Amino acid sequence: MPTILVIDDNPTVATALEVLFSLHDIATVHADSPETGLERLRQGGIDLVIQDMNFRADTTSGDEGVALFRRIRAQHPDMPVILLTAWTRLETAVDLVRAGAADYIGKPWDDHKLLASVNNLLELAEARQELSRRDAEERRRRSALEAGHDLRGLVYADPASEATLRLALQVARSELPVLVTGPNGAGKEKYAEIIHYNSAVKSGPFVAVNCGALPSELIEAELFGAEPGAYTGAGNKARIGKFEAADGGTLFLDEIGTLPPAGQVKLLRVLESGRFQRLGATQERSVRVRVVSATNADLAAMIADGRFREDLYYRLNGIEIALPPLARRPRDILPLARHFLPEGRYFSEAAERALLRHPWPGNVRELRNAVQRAALLSGDRIEADALGLQPATTHPAPAHADEPDRAAIEAALERCNGVLARAAAELGLSRQALYRRLERYGIPRD
Ligand SMILES: Nc1ncnc2c1ncn2[C@@H]1O[C@H](COP(=O)(O)OP(=O)(O)OP(=O)(O)O)[C@@H](O)[C@H]1O
Ligand SMILES: [Mg+2]
Repeated sequence: MPTILVIDDNPTVATALEVLFSLHDIATVHADSPETGLERLRQGGIDLVIQDMNFRADTTSGDEGVALFRRIRAQHPDMPVILLTAWTRLETAVDLVRAGAADYIGKPWDDHKLLASVNNLLELAEARQELSRRDAEERRRRSALEAGHDLRGLVYADPASEATLRLALQVARSELPVLVTGPNGAGKEKYAEIIHYNSAVKSGPFVAVNCGALPSELIEAELFGAEPGAYTGAGNKARIGKFEAADGGTLFLDEIGTLPPAGQVKLLRVLESGRFQRLGATQERSVRVRVVSATNADLAAMIADGRFREDLYYRLNGIEIALPPLARRPRDILPLARHFLPEGRYFSEAAERALLRHPWPGNVRELRNAVQRAALLSGDRIEADALGLQPATTHPAPAHADEPDRAAIEAALERCNGVLARAAAELGLSRQALYRRLERYGIPRD
């Protein structure tokens, strides 16, 4: 049962409110001065305050009420407060309730309106508590995740990213070969590192090889090594392949979709047996290597037209970590953008909106480049123009078509018996936003 603290020097008011609320399963406690009221609040257990504006029979200025309200706000910033005020003092009350979870009711009050306002503020407070509970829960979950792991500086805020990261960390501990998929610049290499640095072989080497960067005749020498003179231009020194270099650690095969057929066969063989030969050698070598591979290609389609071996695919893909494109994890955008910005710089609001609107086909890499370029061209404050983003045609800025007009506001007030908090909720506005519109349209409160 919620408990309301009534701070009023007039015992008749307190008794009337107590009777009213007891009929609606709300408990009431009474304090007859600002001091006793604040003391009672400090003891806790209060869900809402109803306060008078004058505490001596001979004052009507409302100054004491203002001072009390300010002290409540300072000590209990989220406490819902209802000001009981004489109609002649409305302006002060309007100014005060702009400060947040508060409302005002004219004396003598209307029971329905007062109850509506109480219920409204209690609901708002509950919703806010639920939100901050969820925030705290999220922070707790994330620091637990960060405590036990090396995330290699990964920046993430979107639930989609958190889910991907959790899967990657789980997979990291196993010995399964991992295939990281995702579009350009989505963070595949970063995830390959995360998998290595959270695995049982994290103290071993992490060796990356970009299968797309090498001419096909050199790939085998690169992966498996070569004896002196094994191929034209091999020179007279043995070449150590990446498999040997990665022994006891992780071999990261980037752009695996570009591996030519001969390389695919040999790779499959090592993965199956753990054994291979350097080019030009007869001796077999064996290694223990955790394999993580990555691709932005559609391997299933490549298998279908015979460009990628299906058996190799299943060998590489013990489990797939599929990185969503940046546009599908929008809550990552601003944290990443701020992460790439040098110390002391910040985005204008318009720049932040532009960042959120852009579709980011080049994902995190494109974002990093845009931010770094803008930082070069700007002072402390980064404006939207400096980001050089093409205005997105696919994601139009929200239009203001649903801005309520005077008639809509009046109708909402009517339906809600003049209870502003409810009318605001109905119009989809914050209460402050509704007050501004009342002023703009010159709509009286009652
Ligand atoms: N979540 C993230 N937090 C911090 N930095 C990130 C994140 N994701 C990507 N990056 C950075 O963005 C850049 C691009 O990421 P990465 O090289 O891992 O992408 P990729 O998927 O391998 O791209 P490509 O397909 O082009 O090879 C890198 O500098 C990387 O460190
Ligand atoms: Mg890459």
